[in-house]
Amino acid sequence: MAPIGFLDLGPGYLDPELVPTDTIGRAYSAALARYGDTALAYGHNQGALPYRAALARHLTRTDAEPWTPAHLLTTSGTSQALDTLASAFSRPGDVVLTEATTYDLALNIFRDRGLTVSPVTCDADGPDPDAMERTVELVRASGRRVAFAYLIPTFHNPTARLIPTARRIDLVVAARRQNLLIVEDDAYADLFLDGTEAPPSLTALATWDGVLRLGTFSKTLAPGLRLGWLGGSPVLCRRLADRGVAHSGGSPSHLTALAVAELMQDGGYVEHLERLRPRLAHRRDALSAPLRERLRHDFTLRPVQGGMFTWVELPPWLLEQEAVARASAVSVLVQPGSRFGSREPAVRLAHCAHPPTRLRSAAAGLAGVWNQKG
Ligand SMILES: Cc1ncc(COP(=O)(O)O)c(C=O)c1O
Repeated sequence: MAPIGFLDLGPGYLDPELVPTDTIGRAYSAALARYGDTALAYGHNQGALPYRAALARHLTRTDAEPWTPAHLLTTSGTSQALDTLASAFSRPGDVVLTEATTYDLALNIFRDRGLTVSPVTCDADGPDPDAMERTVELVRASGRRVAFAYLIPTFHNPTARLIPTARRIDLVVAARRQNLLIVEDDAYADLFLDGTEAPPSLTALATWDGVLRLGTFSKTLAPGLRLGWLGGSPVLCRRLADRGVAHSGGSPSHLTALAVAELMQDGGYVEHLERLRPRLAHRRDALSAPLRERLRHDFTLRPVQGGMFTWVELPPWLLEQEAVARASAVSVLVQPGSRFGSREPAVRLAHCAHPPTRLRSAAAGLAGVWNQKG
């Protein structure tokens, strides 16, 4: 919790004002009315069919390849899916490749499973495919196994970077050459803010061969739903659904999956996204416009085409911890880039969790204190 009077630009989840609480409530009622007792029973090991069928239709919208329910497994969110994958596809001592700057909390999940994280060099378009291959070769030459590469191609947390299609293809080809599994974390794909959908997923480009895609409703509906999905080849999905945990407990979040299926089937989910995107875009602009206007020319703001974050690269004369401290002096909390592994001094600002007026005045305050040289 931020101290009273502070504006916390740390949290990467929706302002409660943007969460469709009534719509979600009606979706639960509709699911209970339609499925009765079966909505409260153990769910199918791979997840309720209406949920996977509705998701398959939603995903086929952007990916040229047709998704089917067999390509999907219900999860209780991306965090749980990452833990499942680490448990299913690795053993302690294995290495996970990641982008050099990445979602910090995923790293804790990998470390809990005894995995070592090895960063891959990135440029403005994303991970360098040659560097990724070299890293795989080096790890294997040292006698260790690479479990998988964990990548966030779309509206990256923390940098908002979007990997272009050509680089996506190069990454898929490089991974295939090395027989390397890619785990594609696509938490923000539905949150494109300038009217243009994200490029096709790595998973679809690879036609599900050697790539697994993870999605979540935490960022578009609400994190408390604990609902997500894993997309992969039917063989892999069946294999994951055949684990002891599913035999014992069925699919996670069964009732919630049926409720969200209602929302997807009656158009409520897409209507919500169509209302949400311009409101999020407005917040992004409320935060970034004053920063772009006022910050000295040697600060760099990455373009933010989607997602929840604005990434500010700091000039050489402003240390990261100093930027964080100066922000705090004007009652604004920001996340240091080093938290996400960034070697360049930077800060991450979330534009999703506060109303535009507060974001605008926070940005003006930040520009004022950050511009002071010496
Ligand atoms: C890239 C990324 N993956 C996963 C998560 C967590 O997702 P979930 O709530 O579905 O576990 C987050 C949340 O910040 C995220 O930014």
